[in-house]
Amino acid sequence: MVHADAANFAPDVTKEQAYEQVLDQAEGLFFEQRNWVCNLANTASLLWHAYKSLPAPSNQVNWAGFYTLDPQSRPGKPQLILGPFSGKVACQTIPFGRGVCGTAAATATTQVVGDVDAFPGHIACDGDSRSEIVVPIVVVPSAGSGGAEGRVVAIIDVDCAAPDGFDDVDRLWLEKLARLVAESCDWP
Ligand code: SME
Repeated sequence: MVHADAANFAPDVTKEQAYEQVLDQAEGLFFEQRNWVCNLANTASLLWHAYKSLPAPSNQVNWAGFYTLDPQSRPGKPQLILGPFSGKVACQTIPFGRGVCGTAAATATTQVVGDVDAFPGHIACDGDSRSEIVVPIVVVPSAGSGGAEGRVVAIIDVDCAAPDGFDDVDRLWLEKLARLVAESCDWP
């Protein structure tokens, strides 16, 4: 049974421990639940509360959530559409290749941006954001599907009101989270 205590983080946890708890709790919440809206909504909540339990700069996170591949994208023009998140209201759609999110989606690679003002094409949804990490969520085809490439179905986006808010620890754990989320949901 789901319990809100899943999002309670001890005040003295390290960043690694907080992410470990996010992964463990997410895995539990995904048990017998593959709906992507439901699972991304709970994961956004876990991330938000994890960051708020940590010292600076992590507790300066001002947006944590997801964009998913927009099923209404025009042929040959894939775009992201806003998914579940915690934080202020945000841009609804982002074309692949635009901004930090669109770059991560188009290249299927994690983007760690220490200073968003120095990132060409950064989309400023919230003027408070100073740094950002975006991790692609890639569904890997099952064995025997003829060597088809992975499909970017969504991205994890986290913004921080402090510069250089993210490091290799964030990258490592958010990439683990992206793999868990990719395999735990049925994607449209
Ligand atoms: N800054 C992002 C847009 C999304 S918001 O940060 C929530 C970007 O440049 O892609």
